[in-house]
Amino acid sequence: MRIKSIEEYNTEKSNFDNDPERFWEEKAESFIWKKKWDKVLNWDFHSAKINWFNGGKLNITENCLDRHLKKRANQVAIKWIANNPNEKSISLTYQELHAEVCKFSNVLKKHAIKKGDRVCLYMPMVPELSIAVLACARIGAIHSVVFAGFSAKSLSDRINDAECQALITADGGFRGDKITPLKAISDEAMQTTPSIKTCIVLERTKSKIEMKNQRDYWWHHEMASVDNNFPAEFMDSEDELFILYTSGSTGKPKGIVHTTAGYMIYSQYSFQNVFQYNEGDIYWCTADIGWITGHSYIIYGPLLAGATSIMFEGVPTFPDAGRFWRIVEENKINIFYTAPTAIRALEAKGLDFVKKYNLTSLRVLGTVGEPINEDAWNWYFKEIGGGLCPIVDTWWQTETGGIMISNLAGITTAKPTFATLPLPGIKACIMDDSNSEINENDIEGKLCIKYPWPSMARTIYGDHKRFIDTYFSTFPGYYFSGDGCFKNKDGLFRITGRVDDVLIISGHNLGTAEIESAIDEHNNVCESAIVGYPHSIKGNGIYAFIICHEHPLNTDKSNEEINKLIVKHVGPIAKVDKIQYVNGLPKTRSGKIMRRILRKIASGETTNLGDTSTLLDPTIVESIIKGSINNN
Ligand code: WT7
Repeated sequence: MRIKSIEEYNTEKSNFDNDPERFWEEKAESFIWKKKWDKVLNWDFHSAKINWFNGGKLNITENCLDRHLKKRANQVAIKWIANNPNEKSISLTYQELHAEVCKFSNVLKKHAIKKGDRVCLYMPMVPELSIAVLACARIGAIHSVVFAGFSAKSLSDRINDAECQALITADGGFRGDKITPLKAISDEAMQTTPSIKTCIVLERTKSKIEMKNQRDYWWHHEMASVDNNFPAEFMDSEDELFILYTSGSTGKPKGIVHTTAGYMIYSQYSFQNVFQYNEGDIYWCTADIGWITGHSYIIYGPLLAGATSIMFEGVPTFPDAGRFWRIVEENKINIFYTAPTAIRALEAKGLDFVKKYNLTSLRVLGTVGEPINEDAWNWYFKEIGGGLCPIVDTWWQTETGGIMISNLAGITTAKPTFATLPLPGIKACIMDDSNSEINENDIEGKLCIKYPWPSMARTIYGDHKRFIDTYFSTFPGYYFSGDGCFKNKDGLFRITGRVDDVLIISGHNLGTAEIESAIDEHNNVCESAIVGYPHSIKGNGIYAFIICHEHPLNTDKSNEEINKLIVKHVGPIAKVDKIQYVNGLPKTRSGKIMRRILRKIASGETTNLGDTSTLLDPTIVESIIKGSINNN
């Protein structure tokens, strides 16, 4: 099933072009089905109705677990590494994971959770989270994982939106030197979630917690008395597998819905091909299962492919900034997948933390979640990969379910700051402002997908109209990603950032990522964020918030150097008008910069900053405001 050479890659591309349905049907044939499908694809991008493999019946967990038992029962499926480096790791073989998943399926059944019910998981990064995810899928319940960094209000909003019947949580979660009181937060959330009938609590931190009679049950008590066999539920191809919330630029979070067969096929396909997974490789994705990356590339993709997937409970900087590299050495990681924000943060801590460890097991490196600037790419390539490991820059979204645009490690060309090319099977295109497709190269526009792919979101839970409005109405007949994209003269795609972040300066389009990448080239710069603010002559001026390794002694000189770099990398049009040196940027817990807040501060607005509850560290905002007043 894996593409192993550039010739095979080209063949796959032309197979898809010649007969797209046959292309996906062939992928589908390698899975276990309880009943074969009647029709490969029905679709309409106007009403946003997409069905793959209608009439088919299957269970994704049989494909993740049961089908591997013959060949790899004793191979490690999930190896878990604790937050505290002195705590023992836990390895679960395919056989053991199968048994645990069956047991928890029986627990859910005992609590009357059935096919179609929604189950919310609010858990730390522990093996039981993966077990619970898979148990939901095994019984046909729809899982809704909520990242364990979210507040009680965010949790209850998400539970209520999907009317979840059960909540699975823990007494607490370890992250770095902190304990998150997950049960206490859950208790607060459950005061306003009438749909929750059962709450199952995993013991992890041994924190003192309250247990409510007839509602709260200990995980270990429940697991003690159940059978380790559970026949997987028959699911239709289009039965909902999970809901995952993602924030929109406006309004409440959107419950993105993924369904069974298409998601399964695409997560395995993309995993094997992008990372060029080889039998026996040790693979580590550092994401949290609270995000789509963890769903597709810690749990489903790797398990479907029969891989050994590492799951890490902690953070990159605990107990020190060498933790990632220590884990790579100790576990002889072959494939490593992380976010540019982590790379930049670790780069800033200096090479001493890297040099201590032997990283020669690494073969493939990956990044995801945001554009990677050239400086970080080079550091990752040279210092982590030793100049030998291809980097896959993978563009995708919660809504796409799997990686859409990326090089295939070692097979197709990598180019810093370029996600490069859509995977075979993906028809990506670029649109201009008059809503037509641009076919030439060396051009910038908006990134759309014009043909369905198996793992695309099917709807927003409970609000199909919003699904159509958000993704299918800007360019009728196309899925609109919300991202800007530049296609270079060779036809390679570079994602330039969210379109809502694009600045129009003197009538020219400028992508924030491009300018930031230029600023980040400065030796003293750690990270930067650019926003627009109203400017009387140019329409928009550019305001840069910059974190430096050391606060510049002479800011005028530093400003000048930075603008020189921008002129060099982007052009004089992109010179920044104002620079503020800051100690931190307002980031969400998933590492995204909240530009909305920076835009307001840059515009001189220091009150009414809107909802800041999802920020990792809200105090950063106050210090930026103070600095901005001095800067204006
Ligand atoms: C947005 C989706 C996909 C998993 C994590 C994020 C940005 C994602 C890249 C990349 C440039 C990227 C886009 C996209 N993004 N990957 N390789 N290069 N930008 O999922 O939270 O749904 O965010 O992340 O702007 O639209 P998400």
